[in-house]
Amino acid sequence: MTRHFLTVDDLDAAELLALLDHADALKAERAQGRRQRDDLAGRTVGLLFEKPSTRTRVSFEVAVAELGAHPLVLSSAELQLGRGETVGDTARVLSRYLDALGVRTFAQSRLETLAAEGTIPIVNMLSDLAHPCQALADLQTIREATGGLAGRRLTYLGDGNNVAHSLLVAGALVGLDVTVAHPEGHGPDRDVLARARAHAATSGAELSVTTDHLGAVAGADVLYTDVWASMGQEDEADARAAAFAPYRLDGDALAAAAEDAIVLHCLPAHRGEEISAAAIDGPQSRVWDQAENRLHAQKALLLALLG
Ligand code: CP
Ligand code: NVA
Repeated sequence: MTRHFLTVDDLDAAELLALLDHADALKAERAQGRRQRDDLAGRTVGLLFEKPSTRTRVSFEVAVAELGAHPLVLSSAELQLGRGETVGDTARVLSRYLDALGVRTFAQSRLETLAAEGTIPIVNMLSDLAHPCQALADLQTIREATGGLAGRRLTYLGDGNNVAHSLLVAGALVGLDVTVAHPEGHGPDRDVLARARAHAATSGAELSVTTDHLGAVAGADVLYTDVWASMGQEDEADARAAAFAPYRLDGDALAAAAEDAIVLHCLPAHRGEEISAAAIDGPQSRVWDQAENRLHAQKALLLALLG
């Protein structure tokens, strides 16, 4: 059966942890100079973008190339998709040429249609609902920096968005406690939260969602934030700024967190808005490792889906 990666829990907990081990091994191998592998020689992987991207676009293109496959970067504006060809027809046609397709898009339903109508693995490279590839790199980074996942506590400050959703589900799968502190009216999606809580019942992860930013950061091992206005919400940026200001990841948040807490941000960052320059550029920041780990985690993912 064709496997897809539309949300983090398309993998079960054991598969997720095995993938992280594999990502660590690929990282170590690359650090020793072995970049080029031939696991996916002769394959072609499409990478379709309906929104901008720096990290996802480059890390996936490099990952595909270093695994020996051919990456084909596509923009919906340049495809007939941008002129009204259906998602289903696009899926059927691309399945005849490609071995897998990564997609960055708006509605999660577009990914679901691609998966249902095509015959190749579909990878969610970010939708309005989820950013599961980001969560893989996040878990890899947390484990690397703190030595574990189960029983660690991550506090996410800000918008209950795609990144927050994938962190909740990923944490719930592996036993990482996740607190999301958000302004009134900007909490995570109820269905996603329910799914995360169902996984947490198995793993023992403690999940909480609150508007109390001060209580949320106390003692946290990991502080995480993301932009206040995601792609597609640019018009709301000004209106959101005042409501989100107390949720900034700054020196006050760091002072209340565990002494050795790490700072994460999926990037791109806006210094002085959701994160202070001192926090992102300071000694507790692991954001550049986090960005690098996209490459290793996505290689492990591609090998799990196609290897
Ligand atoms: N974190 C992330 O997905 O970055 P890009 O939007 O640059 O791909
Ligand atoms: N929540 C952000 C993440 C960017 C990587 C967005 O969707 O724009």
